[in-house]
Amino acid sequence: MTKAVRSIPRLSRRALGIGESATLEVARKAKELAASGVSIVDLGVGEPDFPSPACAVEAARQALADGLTRYTPAAGIPELRAALAGRYARDFGAPWRPSDVMVAVGGKSALFELALALLDEGDEVVLPSPYWVSFPEHIRFAGARPVMVPTSAGDGFRIHAEAVIAALTPATRAILLNSPCNPTGGIVAGEDLREIVAAAAERDIVVISDETYERFLFGGQQFASAAALAALYPETIVVVGSFSKTYAMTGWRIGYALGPPWLLRSVMDIQSHATSNPTSFAMWGALAALERGEEDVRQMVAEFASRRDLVAAALDEMPGVSCRPPDGAFYAFPNLAACYRPGRQGSAAMASYLLEEARVAVVPGLAFGADDYVRISFATSREALREGLGRMAAALDRRG
Ligand SMILES: Cc1ncc(COP(=O)(O)O)c(C=O)c1O
Repeated sequence: MTKAVRSIPRLSRRALGIGESATLEVARKAKELAASGVSIVDLGVGEPDFPSPACAVEAARQALADGLTRYTPAAGIPELRAALAGRYARDFGAPWRPSDVMVAVGGKSALFELALALLDEGDEVVLPSPYWVSFPEHIRFAGARPVMVPTSAGDGFRIHAEAVIAALTPATRAILLNSPCNPTGGIVAGEDLREIVAAAAERDIVVISDETYERFLFGGQQFASAAALAALYPETIVVVGSFSKTYAMTGWRIGYALGPPWLLRSVMDIQSHATSNPTSFAMWGALAALERGEEDVRQMVAEFASRRDLVAAALDEMPGVSCRPPDGAFYAFPNLAACYRPGRQGSAAMASYLLEEARVAVVPGLAFGADDYVRISFATSREALREGLGRMAAALDRRG
């Protein structure tokens, strides 16, 4: 009898090209250390430390009690789709009907499904950099190529129309904007957004506007939504949003996309095979948050504004660290290059150093395409921020 050969079947080329999300990886490492009894201050997390709105919790509980526990239409419950269409019409004059809204398993899956619906091998997607970790992975997974457009710390990582438009080629299929930006907090001004959207429409390029952090704006900054331009350019604008950050509902996994039928219909078909509908009772909770959660949002954003000032002031005092207070989102993105030493050279080594020496978890900027930086989340208590930043300052001060 021949012996069984123990080999491992191979993964697909697509799977081989993808790694664990670096943000989730840091969270996992920090949790492992914490579980082993080490006191970690976690400044890596990208989720609000606030409870989900009570109205959402109650509505989800009621939905469960009422037996709303079955499959729903793949694109989500009609009530939530209608409420989202109504919100975007009211706030931005957007033209989308309920049938142009798809509820998804978090904004992340809406973005992933959009990439699959839109992109082919050889296509290009213009992406301001630093960028959220999953964007290039989604683009590559769909066979296309991200074309990075650098933004810079000097002006708060603003997205400029001129640079984005200069990166367009005949292979460009989409421009992927994220304002306010994770990790930089950078935003796009209304005028730049208008120019980008107009240039895209002229070339049949789709602008995907990830507005996950739309409510987190500081220092009097105004939010410019692509939704406000959708009536003018109905075929080439898609907005992606999420309940995760706005309503502190990360674990509920409810996000959405709004856009033209020619594209959204295909995204919905993909979703119908990938996930079917998002969780039924979570959608009922999300609907309640949308209708009655405004006060919760207001309180949370006010608290985040204070924390943003606290973090900016603490970073400003650290020798060699430079960081402009972010215009939006809930992350500071300091440049630590002047603190790099042998053994803590580059953002990954620096993040490991800070985790091991200072017991502070931050996310290496490398994950976002910016190796001179680390990302510090201020979606955590002021006490944790003071303690974590104090530890970080002491560790950076140590001779390496
Ligand atoms: C820029 C950005 N877009 C989208 C998402 C997706 O959020 P969710 O899938 O929880 O809705 C995140 C989450 O971190 C994000 O930072």
